[in-house]
Amino acid sequence: MRERPTGQPPMHGNRNAALLQTIKSAVISVLCLLLLANIAVHFLVSPSGKSNLNQTAAANGAKSTANESQKSSLTSSQQSKALSKSNCGIDRRWAKNLSLEEFRSTYRLKRPLLLQFERGAADWLVRDSAWSLDRLAGQFGSYDALAGRPVQIVQNGGRGQERVNFGRFLSDIRNASAGEKRYIFSREFFQSTHMDSTLKFPSIMAYNSRDHDLFLFLGGNNSGVSFHRHADAWNAVVGGRKRWFLYPGDRAPPGGVHHAFEPADWLARVRVPMLTNAQQKVAALIDGSAAAVEPLECVQVAGEILYIPEGFYHATINLEPTLAIGIQNVKPLGATETAFYELNAKPPTEADAIASKILKSMPYNTEVLHKQAMSRKRQEKFQEAEKLLERALSLDSSFLVAMLDLAEIKWKYFSKIKEAQALYTKALELNPNLWEVYGKYGEFLAYQTGELETAVEMVEKATQLQSNELVLWQLLRSIHDFAGNETAVSAADVMIDKLSVIDDQLYDF
Ligand SMILES: *[C@@H]1O[C@H](CO)[C@@H](O)[C@H](O)[C@H]1NC(C)=O
Ligand SMILES: *[C@@H]1O[C@H](CO)[C@@H](O)[C@H](O)[C@H]1NC(C)=O
Ligand SMILES: *[C@@H]1O[C@H](CO)[C@@H](O)[C@H](O)[C@H]1NC(C)=O
Ligand SMILES: *[C@@H]1O[C@H](CO)[C@@H](O)[C@H](O)[C@H]1NC(C)=O
Ligand SMILES: *[C@@H]1O[C@H](CO)[C@@H](O)[C@H](O)[C@H]1NC(C)=O
Ligand SMILES: *[C@@H]1O[C@H](CO)[C@@H](O)[C@H](O)[C@H]1NC(C)=O
Repeated sequence: MRERPTGQPPMHGNRNAALLQTIKSAVISVLCLLLLANIAVHFLVSPSGKSNLNQTAAANGAKSTANESQKSSLTSSQQSKALSKSNCGIDRRWAKNLSLEEFRSTYRLKRPLLLQFERGAADWLVRDSAWSLDRLAGQFGSYDALAGRPVQIVQNGGRGQERVNFGRFLSDIRNASAGEKRYIFSREFFQSTHMDSTLKFPSIMAYNSRDHDLFLFLGGNNSGVSFHRHADAWNAVVGGRKRWFLYPGDRAPPGGVHHAFEPADWLARVRVPMLTNAQQKVAALIDGSAAAVEPLECVQVAGEILYIPEGFYHATINLEPTLAIGIQNVKPLGATETAFYELNAKPPTEADAIASKILKSMPYNTEVLHKQAMSRKRQEKFQEAEKLLERALSLDSSFLVAMLDLAEIKWKYFSKIKEAQALYTKALELNPNLWEVYGKYGEFLAYQTGELETAVEMVEKATQLQSNELVLWQLLRSIHDFAGNETAVSAADVMIDKLSVIDDQLYDF
């Protein structure tokens, strides 16, 4: 029942997992490199013991987001209300009177679509009572599932990474004081249960177990998933409400698709400032070169089914405890999306050529520019990688992950310390909630500027935001080791041992 399924379909592309792996190996490899080569240098510039975490990071944060405190002082119900406001830019059609011909000519591979049903979910479930949260708790309460935060799920190739008890999770998402923000995003639910026998979707959604993955999506208030893209998919909301943000695939969303912002942070930190910055908006519209500003949006309610054409970038936020069922093509249908899947699966030189091909038809796609930069980096073409990242950032100044990668290239390969420092500071200002910013900045401070104490504060902050990230504990251990703090090294070793075991045992349902 709960065995790890054999064969792993590339849901949001295994690319994201691959990307994370790359980040991890990059951090680890630089640690090794520095440990071998630079110890003497780093001890020469060893810290004065003064902490400047608050002077750099916090002061910058305070300066640039003067209205931040107002924002966070909103009550959670005010926040929910603000999140619920959305003008729907997606066609809503009654499933009953949409023919297969019209679906194919107007929507398939072209436009998102919301299908409505007279009796709601009861029209596409054999027994909708089998899908009440109480019934699910009764039937599957003893199961385990994997849950994750919005960024984690995308990083992890379309699944969570923390094991939770399904029954407990169901009660927590309905309990306001439990504060559960994680999301279950399970491909295994339908493989481990017979619940697929309760589905009777309309014929335009025809699917089979060889060409499609079936998903269970379950999350409480404000859970969700960050921007990503993949093959054709349907998302059927059984209960609850889900807010969508979508962008056509030729432009990546502002802020980038590389798991840098949770959707609520993206809304507050990227989208709202862009929309209120009239100048930027006008410039984007006139020369067409800036990242697209306005997403397509909609709040999908219980009983509706959303069609997401392949290649559309999308992110979601659940506005209530929300249960949904997904169908997703295993393989893309079109040449462009196929190229995107290959871009993430192939070794650097091939990926480079694929990126060039895609960029011919969509020269402003910052995701592809970033991927090409990373493949140049792996081919040790550092100058070209630097140029490509600078171009991506000139198209989208909030592309956080490009900022971090550019900073790293600048200090590691060109010793442009001031430029790197400025980029890290800006990244922290843009999103003080992302563990990777603190991890990367901490690595820079430890190994480049030798500010070990501040580096420890940074990396400790990262572990507070993301306690189960093995690579962070390895980084922290390594910095403590530099500093000769043996107690802290032992404490980090305990975490490293614990996480190494968990890493091997993760499975879902
Ligand atoms: C940083 O500033 C906060 C208040 O802004 C303070 O509570 C904290 O002690 C400071 N940390 C350090 C290391 O100075
Ligand atoms: C803060 O918000 C107020 C309105 O709520 C606005 O008038 C003011 O310009 C904002 N300040 C900044 C720095 O954005
Ligand atoms: C489509 O279906 C809805 C509900 O089933 C019905 O009210 C409506 O009149 C139909 N529209 C057309 C154009 O047939
Ligand atoms: C979810 O948010 C709604 C407001 O939109 C609130 O009424 C409800 O109590 C919240 N539920 C939980 C479990 O937090
Ligand atoms: C709700 O969550 C709180 C905090 O975790 C917990 O103490 C309480 O027992 C929960 N209530 C229920 C009904 O599970
Ligand atoms: C060792 O590291 C821990 C954790 O950061 C810290 O609390 C402690 O003060 C450090 N000890 C020394 C001697 O620096």
